[in-house]
Formats: sequence, C-alpha cells, structure tokens
Amino acid sequence: MKDFKARVEDFKKKFDKALAGAKDGKSLQELRNTYLSRKKGVVKSLLEELKAFKPEEKSKAGKMLNTLKNHVQKKLETAQKKFTAPETIEKKIDLTLPGEKKYWGAPHPVVLFQQKIENIFISMGFSIEEGPEIETDYYNFEALNFPPHHPARDDWDTLYLSDDLLLRTHTSPVQIRAMENRKPPIRIIVPGRVYRRETPDPTHLPMFYQVEGLVVDKGITFAHLKGTLEYFLKTLFYEKLKIRFRPSFFPFTEPSAEVDIECLVCRGEDDKCRVCKGTGWKEILGSGMVDPQVLKNVNIDPEKYSGFAFGMGIERTAMFAFQIPDMRYFFENDLRFIRQFTLK
Ligand code: DAH
Repeated sequence: MKDFKARVEDFKKKFDKALAGAKDGKSLQELRNTYLSRKKGVVKSLLEELKAFKPEEKSKAGKMLNTLKNHVQKKLETAQKKFTAPETIEKKIDLTLPGEKKYWGAPHPVVLFQQKIENIFISMGFSIEEGPEIETDYYNFEALNFPPHHPARDDWDTLYLSDDLLLRTHTSPVQIRAMENRKPPIRIIVPGRVYRRETPDPTHLPMFYQVEGLVVDKGITFAHLKGTLEYFLKTLFYEKLKIRFRPSFFPFTEPSAEVDIECLVCRGEDDKCRVCKGTGWKEILGSGMVDPQVLKNVNIDPEKYSGFAFGMGIERTAMFAFQIPDMRYFFENDLRFIRQFTLK
C-alpha cells in the first residue's frame, strides 16, 4: 500500500514535469494518452492493481487514484485552452493578406435632414404626424380653401388617380386631418412625400419631401410664427443667419409670407453668385396665419382660436445646405453620392 501511494505521487510529479515541458496541443494529446487512455493509461493500469488490495486499502487507494485522475484532467484542460486559442486564430487569419473592405451604410441625406428638422421641432414641444400620400380632392384642396376651378390650383400640378383621388401635392392636407382628429392646442410637424406632375430637371422632381408645420391655440399671433421659424432656421443653419419675411399668397393662410434666408454660398457678397443669382437671398419656405375659413372647415371657432402654418421642401433645403447642384442625385441611388453626408 505504501509503495502504491509512493508510485501514485511519483506519477503525479512526472506528469507535472512533463506538462511543464509541453509545447503544443500535440504533446498534450500524448500526455493524455499516457495517463488517461482507457486501455493502457497509467491510471487504468494502477486501477488494475486495486483488485489485489484488501477492501479498506482498496477504498483508500481508489481515492488516491481519483485525485490523480482529476489532477491530470484539470491540468490538461487548462493547458489545452492556452494552446488552442492562438493556434486556431493563426490558422484562420492570414495576417499577411490585405484587409477586407467594409462598406458601412450611411443615412440618406434626405433622412438625415428630416431627422435634424424633427429634432429641432421636438425640442420646441411639437409632435410628429403623418398622413396618406393618396388623398382626396377635399383634403388636398377644398378644405384648404381652394374651391373647385379656383386658379390657385394651377400652382400645384396635380397627378389625379380619379376625379376625386389624387397623389397629394403637398403635406398641407395633414393639417386638416390633424384638426379634425383633435382639439387645440395643436403643435405638429408633418414630414412626408409629395407628388407633382413635373419633368425631372436639376431643381424639380415628380416626387419629393416636404415638412409641414401647424400650431393652433388661443392667442396665436404672427409673432409666434416669426419667432418659431427664426429659431428653427437659426438652429438648422447657424445663429447669425439673416432671415426675411416677404408677403405672399396661399389660399389656406391669411396673411401669408414666404421666408428667405441669406445665401449660404456667397452670404450676399457675390453679385454673380449662381446659387442666389446675385440677390443674396434664397426662398426657403411658405408660411402664414391659418385662414379663418380653414378653421371653420374643421369646426374650430376662429373667434376663439388662431394658428400659423408653414411648409418647406426638404431636398431643396438640403441642396442649399450641402451645395448639391442637382436634385436628381438624391434618388439615383449612386452610393458614391449618398454616402457622403453627415450632419452635426
Ligand atoms: N403647401 C405649400 C406648398 O406646397 C407650402 C405651404 C405654404 C405650407 C404656406 C403651409 C403654408 O402650411 O402656411 O407650396
């Protein structure tokens, strides 16, 4: 028995020594065979010897053997981890090969711009609303105070689907839908696609994006309109941006104003500037106080409530901001174009 114990300890020492000298996975496998092989491993042959022992000696010796077996298994496992990890990596990656080029996606410049606009209005307490792209004549025109056959309709080259159904020419019909659905106070913006019968050219497309805004509450004045749009445009571009309001006409607002901002390209300093045609100004959006007739159309009392609205083309503004010369680039899906844009 004493002899058995000494031999077990001796095997353990030998094993530890051999393990310390093992250089790779292969030598570990050899060690595993020597000690744990079920046919002729060291543990197995020692186990055979137990048969000759008396019962109480047998159990002591069995424990010793078990300890040896566990020791060998554990040590081999730990050593295995050390060896295999780097080996497999080395096999899979040839570090001498050139790297693989990864094509990262990028937000589309229209999406980027739309998100930036949304974030500014969200920070002012507006919520975002959507509406259908196929509209009825009522929402696209009539409720917005364009009577049938009114010449103002000619300014919106409309794609009709039937006598009554059309592709919305602007996001303004969502004003009507929002006012029908809830009571003031209303503070929304409506980004979305609109359609017009246009032949594509550098500044026109038959499909483009607008963002509409609507505020209706008690005591809303033109000062709110000016303050909101000035804050919006200065945040979108820069703090010192020059802005001017010009009288205009829209059937659904009274009074109406168009908003110009200083030319981002020449800042008014080049009378030959091709972007602003030397005027120093660029028209950027339409706006006005919601016409009392429009409020009546949705059963809001214009004696109690007033509001302002505005509409802006997203691509047009993005073109101006990024100095993109041709609107068609946005939808040609040329990745070399689309990938270039980031906004702070
Ligand atoms: N819907 C107009 C357009 O498509 C833009 C617009 C102008 C929207 C004035 C408004 C507004 O809400 O008040 O040209």
